[in-house]
Amino acid sequence: MDFDLNGADAKHSYKLLAGLVVPRPIAWVTTLNEDGVINAAPFSFFNVMGTRPPIVAFAPGDRSPGIPKDTAKNIRTSGEFVINLVDEETAEAMNITSAEIAAGESEITLAGLHTESSRSIAPPRISEAPVAIECREWSTLEVGRNRIVIGLVQCLHVKDGILDPETLLVRPEAYAPVGRMEVPSGYCRTRDRFDMPRP
Ligand SMILES: Cc1cc2nc3c(=O)[nH]c(=O)nc-3n(C[C@H](O)[C@H](O)[C@H](O)COP(=O)(O)O)c2cc1C
Repeated sequence: MDFDLNGADAKHSYKLLAGLVVPRPIAWVTTLNEDGVINAAPFSFFNVMGTRPPIVAFAPGDRSPGIPKDTAKNIRTSGEFVINLVDEETAEAMNITSAEIAAGESEITLAGLHTESSRSIAPPRISEAPVAIECREWSTLEVGRNRIVIGLVQCLHVKDGILDPETLLVRPEAYAPVGRMEVPSGYCRTRDRFDMPRP
């Protein structure tokens, strides 16, 4: 099957691309609004984009043309955000924070989560998350109704036990991230792993 995503099949673009380009990691982004209210929301159009310098990117689509989601709006104002990562234990809470709630209310309270101060930026990280990546906005690209937020990593927080303290390699048995799978609500666990040394 072939699809013309700029023409006749444009209306299927999300269903096809988001359903097929899987599994995707989930950026669970915390920001502060101008009144200091903590905003949390998940974004699976996300990945690490490089390490020298360390950069990440995620893509909050506009709600309607020119009207950004709260996360994008807060980053445009403050230039700071935390990408918390999602594991099996936090998956349900992550899903709760994707609800649209009134500006001024916090998804953190709604999901029964806790936060802790970040080391380098004002938005806090989610205490329950296994990994938190403190970022400053490098740039935000606008492509139609997509925004691609590029973050320069300032500080990486990893829960004790996930890394081998000697090698700094991940201990697979101690880290169970979930991935975004089929549209509309599929996820995967990542415990069935295999090793394939590079040639
Ligand atoms: C697992 C998951 C992944 C999501 N990924 C994205 C995404 O990549 N881009 C996007 O615009 N919305 C995504 N959403 C929807 C947003 O989380 C949702 O619109 C949220 O209300 C935005 O919150 P905000 O207005 O506080 O920024 C995703 C939702 C879930 C549950």
